[in-house]
Amino acid sequence: MSAKETDLANLMWSEKYRPKKLAEVVNQKEIIKGISNMIKSPDIPHMLFSGPAGVGKTTTALCIAMELLGEEWKKNTLELNASDERGIKMVRERVKEFAASIKLAGDKEFGTPKIIILDEADEMTSEAQTALRRIIEDSARTTRFIIICNYLSQIIEPIQSRCVVFRFTRLPREDVIDYLKMICEKEKVKFEEKALAQIYDATGGDMRHSINIMQAAAGMGSVSSANVIAAMGLSGRARVNEVLKLALSGKFNEARAKLLELTQVYGMSETDFMKYANQEAYEMKIEKPDEFAAIMAEYDYRLAAGAHPDIQLSALLAQLGKLGAKKQ
Ligand SMILES: Nc1ncnc2c1ncn2[C@@H]1O[C@H](COP(=O)(O)OP(=O)(O)O)[C@@H](O)[C@H]1O
Ligand SMILES: [Mg+2]
Repeated sequence: MSAKETDLANLMWSEKYRPKKLAEVVNQKEIIKGISNMIKSPDIPHMLFSGPAGVGKTTTALCIAMELLGEEWKKNTLELNASDERGIKMVRERVKEFAASIKLAGDKEFGTPKIIILDEADEMTSEAQTALRRIIEDSARTTRFIIICNYLSQIIEPIQSRCVVFRFTRLPREDVIDYLKMICEKEKVKFEEKALAQIYDATGGDMRHSINIMQAAAGMGSVSSANVIAAMGLSGRARVNEVLKLALSGKFNEARAKLLELTQVYGMSETDFMKYANQEAYEMKIEKPDEFAAIMAEYDYRLAAGAHPDIQLSALLAQLGKLGAKKQ
């Protein structure tokens, strides 16, 4: 790890307290049990993890790599983000390079498969996924894939059928609160029970988001209810307000960029975005609140029905742009 990475890992509690062993992963018990048994056998299958943000998918994948590959795990693990990289071409090239470097390492290392963790695979088009499927087959002798997605329905069937699928779920209240308490004790930070409950209510079982809010509150002195509310305001509502204003003034691209930052970087869930947007809009006293309410209700329904959130929220911003343009 470079000095910079180490600094970041210590700075961000969500990184500092990322479990390093499968047994340390909170909840997800059936999954961890299944995987622990599976990695005892010499021939592990490809795996596909689905589920919401911040519940341990990437952590579990990294733990598998560490437990299976031991000290040399970094050298033999490739972490790719399907939505960062420019398409499947990049994935193919990186996989090829990686496979070649394994060959260079010599035959003695062929015994253990190498691991490729491909995050956000549901961001790939189905053409790209078809190409990925070929890559998986062609590199099967040396490589095992752990494919991660939010929505299993967005992964083509031929990939699903080649993997053992594990569905991760939101973490229960008690587990999240216990973990937050453990961090407070280790960091010697004072907390109020009520504040931890508020964090859970706001994040709904997303551990990363919970830890981030708690760290922001701790930065204000302690994890008190008032600081949690202030921290959430900073990380949440103020930014939602900004997205709304940009959307209503027709700046679609800027609004969308801010929205993505909110959901991807700050881990705000789509439902929280809708909730905050609703509150903010009334406080802003927007014009045509009746039309605003109708638009929000429509998209709230679509999200609840399971439509793709990125697409729906983008369409929502476009609708708000039209609403904003109407007022002259
Ligand atoms: N099940 C879990 N047990 C312990 N910590 C967790 C768990 N899930 C998430 N976290 C915390 O949240 C951070 C992000 O988790 P990650 O596994 O990357 O989530 P994702 O499901 O989005 O891949 C971790 O570094 C860790 O601090
Ligand atoms: Mg992840």
